[in-house]
Amino acid sequence: MAKIYSASTTAPVNIATLKYWGKRDTKLNLPTNSSISVTLSQDDLRTFTTAAASEAFTKDTLWLNGTEESVTGARTSACLAELRALRKSLEDADPSLPPLSTYKLHIVSENNFPTAAGLASSAAGFAALVRAIADLYELPQSAEELSRIARQGSGSACRSLFGGYVAWEMGEKEDGSDSRAVQIATETDWPDMRAAILVVSAKKKETSSTTGMQTTAKTSPLFKHRVEVVVPERFKVMSKSILDKDFETFGQLTMADSNQFHAVCLDSSPPVFYMNDVSRNVISLIEKVNNLAGRVVAAYTFDAGPNAVLYYLEKDEPIVLGLLKAALPDLDGWQNKATVSAAVPDGVS
Ligand code: PMV
Repeated sequence: MAKIYSASTTAPVNIATLKYWGKRDTKLNLPTNSSISVTLSQDDLRTFTTAAASEAFTKDTLWLNGTEESVTGARTSACLAELRALRKSLEDADPSLPPLSTYKLHIVSENNFPTAAGLASSAAGFAALVRAIADLYELPQSAEELSRIARQGSGSACRSLFGGYVAWEMGEKEDGSDSRAVQIATETDWPDMRAAILVVSAKKKETSSTTGMQTTAKTSPLFKHRVEVVVPERFKVMSKSILDKDFETFGQLTMADSNQFHAVCLDSSPPVFYMNDVSRNVISLIEKVNNLAGRVVAAYTFDAGPNAVLYYLEKDEPIVLGLLKAALPDLDGWQNKATVSAAVPDGVS
């Protein structure tokens, strides 16, 4: 019987605090602006992926949460082709290596949270896929180099190759070789950060992020101002706030950026809606709490869906969680709270 080679890995979800929204190249997934995110703990939301290669396999196959998915889509194909090319160069340099680059792959991936509901499932999914195959192929590439490959699967996936606080630098080159993720700070550099995820709806989103981004980039007048003026400045200030552990600035910018991202969606034609009434109630509640406290106790952010992610400091956890329970008793938390991921400087493991 032909030998089966395999490797397994988990990759965490990351939630952007400075949002990526807009592609300057759809094929390579090159963004129109740089972005920043916080990686959540793998104990909370994560994808677990096993990649196997064997001479006996007759076609590349991917199972996501038990259902067979296409591997022939442009994004998955691009990741597989790049990873195979890197493996091929190892095999060319050392002919004693098994020719895994010529074998078909079987990939099995499981999320422990709702898929495509605006909880960054594609980010964790493509990061885990790239890392599992890179481990299977014993590739020497760093997390930063692998992030360029994961980016082609789903833009935000490049940031899930790192723990802690992560920037995706948009880069300038047309071939995308400088558009990759870098770690701003590890989780231990700012260890008292906490995240709570409020699952407002676990339904699949109606407008995919790719479609939403294209509509916005083509039709929103506010979009141009955002990418050219607002984000470059915010990127600098938010990066510094992370290094300074300045939650007031970090929180203010996180909320402002979530609001501007949803504003450019609304400014699109036709308008794109991701938040619902419950999302807006969460915003009002947090704004009120912060206002009463006279400081930023918690910061909300919403991706391309109605679910809220709240960032706050550990010392404020009783206030934040107590208040949410009292004000929104029917709302499900994702295990009520998630922690920020342990730092994984050279990639998820
Ligand atoms: O990576 P994508 O194509 O699923 O887009 C992600 C877009 C947002 O989640 C809304 C923002 C971000 O930076 O993650």
